[in-house]
Amino acid sequence: MGQSAGPGRPGRILIGRDEIAARVADLGQAVRGDYAGRSPLLVAVLKGAVVFAADLLRAASLPAGLDFMSVSSYGTGTHSSGIVRLTSDLSVSIEGRDVIIVEDIIDTGRTISYLRRNLATRHPRSLALCVLLDKVARREVEVPMDYVGFAIPDEFVVGYGLDHRGFHRNLPDIAVLEPAGRA
Ligand code: PRP
Repeated sequence: MGQSAGPGRPGRILIGRDEIAARVADLGQAVRGDYAGRSPLLVAVLKGAVVFAADLLRAASLPAGLDFMSVSSYGTGTHSSGIVRLTSDLSVSIEGRDVIIVEDIIDTGRTISYLRRNLATRHPRSLALCVLLDKVARREVEVPMDYVGFAIPDEFVVGYGLDHRGFHRNLPDIAVLEPAGRA
C-alpha cells in the first residue's frame, strides 16, 4: 500500500469551532421550539453525522430519542451511481413518531432522497431533515430541508464528523482538504 492511500491534509478552516457551536445552538433551539411537548426521534446517518447529532441532541434539550442508520452508495471513482443501499437499519419502530433525520452533509441529494422515501414507508407521524452542511452546487435531486446549518461551496471538507479515507472526523473545525489529498 503506497502513501497515496492515506488521508489528505486538512488545510484552510472553512467553519471554525465557535461558529459551528453557535449555529448548532441555534438549530437546537429551533428544534426545541418546533417539537415542544413532543419526543422526536433523531436518526443520525452513520458515520459522518455522529458528531453533529450528539451536539444537536444536547442543544435541543428535549426528551428526544436517538437512533442510527447506515447506508452505502455504489459508484465508480468520483461519480456516484446514485444507487443507495441500506447497510444497517434502525433499532426501533418509527410508526407514529416524529422523526428528524440528521445528516452532516447533502451533496447530490441521492442518499437523503433514498432515506426519506425509505422512512416514509414506515408511517412516521412526521419526517423532517436537519443537515449541517448544504453543498448546493452539487445537487442532482431536489431535497426539502427543514433545518440547515450552513450552505458551503463545492469543496472537499473534513472535520466535525466528516472524513477523508476514514480520518479527520475528530477535528473540531471544518476544514478544506489540501488539493493534493483529494483523489
Ligand atoms: C456522506 C453524507 C451523506 C452523503 C451525502 O456520507 O454523510 O450521507 O455522503 O452525499 P449525497 O448527497 O451525494 O448522497 P459518506 O458516504 O461520506 O459516508 P460517511 O458519513 O460514513 O462518511
